[in-house]
Amino acid sequence: MRKFYLILLLFSTVGCASSNLNERGLVTEQAMVVSAHPLASAVGADILRRGGNAVDAAVAVQFALAVVYPDAGNLGGGGFLVLRLQDRRIDALDYREKAPAAAHRNMYLNEKGEVIKGLSVKGHLAAGVPGTVDGMVQVHEKYGSLPWRELVQPAVLLAARGFPLTKLEAKKLNENRKDFIRYSTQRPDFILKSRWKKGDTLRLKELASTLERIRDKGRAGFYEGPTAQLIVAEMQRGKGLISKADLQNYSAVWRSPLTGTYKDYTVISMPPPSSGGLALLQLLTITSDYPVADWGWNTTKTAHFMIEAERRVYADRAKHLGDPDFYQVPVAGLLDKTYLKRRMCNFSLKHATDSDDIAPGEPGPPEAKHTTHYSIVDQQGNAVSVTTTLNSSFGSKVFVGGAGFLLNNEMDDFSIKPGHPNTYGLLGGDANAVESGKRMLSSMTPTILEKDGNLFMVVGSPGGSTIITSVYQTILNVTAHNLPMQGAVNAGRFHHQWEPDVVLAEKKAFTLGRFLGLWWKGHKVIPLSRTIGRVDAILVLPDGKLEGGADPRGDDAAAGF
Ligand code: GLY
Repeated sequence: MRKFYLILLLFSTVGCASSNLNERGLVTEQAMVVSAHPLASAVGADILRRGGNAVDAAVAVQFALAVVYPDAGNLGGGGFLVLRLQDRRIDALDYREKAPAAAHRNMYLNEKGEVIKGLSVKGHLAAGVPGTVDGMVQVHEKYGSLPWRELVQPAVLLAARGFPLTKLEAKKLNENRKDFIRYSTQRPDFILKSRWKKGDTLRLKELASTLERIRDKGRAGFYEGPTAQLIVAEMQRGKGLISKADLQNYSAVWRSPLTGTYKDYTVISMPPPSSGGLALLQLLTITSDYPVADWGWNTTKTAHFMIEAERRVYADRAKHLGDPDFYQVPVAGLLDKTYLKRRMCNFSLKHATDSDDIAPGEPGPPEAKHTTHYSIVDQQGNAVSVTTTLNSSFGSKVFVGGAGFLLNNEMDDFSIKPGHPNTYGLLGGDANAVESGKRMLSSMTPTILEKDGNLFMVVGSPGGSTIITSVYQTILNVTAHNLPMQGAVNAGRFHHQWEPDVVLAEKKAFTLGRFLGLWWKGHKVIPLSRTIGRVDAILVLPDGKLEGGADPRGDDAAAGF
């Protein structure tokens, strides 16, 4: 009886399933940028108009987001970039943060071996060595066409002249003010006003000076000289670990993108240390054996199947994924079709499986809560998919005194103690334990799809553990359910990650009947008052035009021509 009342209570909070599934986004003839902020998208589109390529635009957007979207845009964080050139060459850049050299396995535990609450999430010890500036320098050196300074200059101007705050940004700055004061050792420009409101101009003088140094000196403008000194001084004041040597030694890494096929599509995504590409390919490979298109969008049957696939894939993630430079990730074994079929052998269309009955699988032996995504296609057809992050919203909440930017709290993406969930509830073990100089496991899933050898979609999302499922659903919304790009992004989302054994669902993900159907099968579906993911994507239409999908859950915007 109690269960019945609980279900009734939950129903009363469920809304209607998405009604804007057929909405088309901005359609342009030649080029497009979709990002989390209209000003950043405008900067990227302007670079493309001036003859820059998609990589040039990506660099400019990264720096612009560091100014106008400080909750996730960053200088003090990291990210992953996947690109596909118009001649079909593909590449992936890992500019993920690294654990400082002085980091060690038990650094977040007390003498009894218990986790010290919050230490990996807020404050100086939560920060990994930032990778963004080196990443941007490396991608520009390899693929850029316009001069470096022209790509950083728009961000310098935005910071120096100021820009109007959106309602959402003003709210978030106000909500985080107390934490900024508590965790920063000096007062940043972001708290000059005690209460921001929509339309207020935010001028960031210290950040403008840091960006000028990066503009004029490239890598050395951040990892050496005054900026490095300010970071090290901040660490000394706040008892953090990042040293001068950590900054000098940081280097982004070029990796081979992970590729696979799903029906008529080639999927190009990020390999470890992100779990995103691998988990996405596992999900899509499993899905190719089931008629989800016939079952329909977010029907009980489709959602039940997707939840069961997600349960198994996230169990694998918890055990087998980590930094490939420290741990041999069994990539081929995890993607093996027979292995994935075996993972689904106890799947029943009738009822949910208990997560306690789904241990991480044993694949074949190894072969030798905030982030932001942007998607870019240029006039030549080059495509760039970038997901970049400070981890949680505004990262560690630590501003580097005198330098005006936030440091990440990416250390929490490590498994700080086996079996202890991170801020996203994700579990991990040895593969992702803290080690000096190691990269923490990520869920970021910047992805590009080809169809019949041609560019088809550029897609990605923020959202911690929900990134993978948001990207998975968006891809299925277009490829299986024929939604336009904007409709696919609008569509209500749901998420399951093995543990905790619950399905998180946006209110618009399911009709009441489908919601009831899922409970009936044994899924603990929790309707959320918040949203899941913020997907920014571009679809190449059959006539070659580009359709943007800018997520209405935020201020996200498409721009192009
Ligand atoms: N910090 C979120 C992620 O990398 O998955």
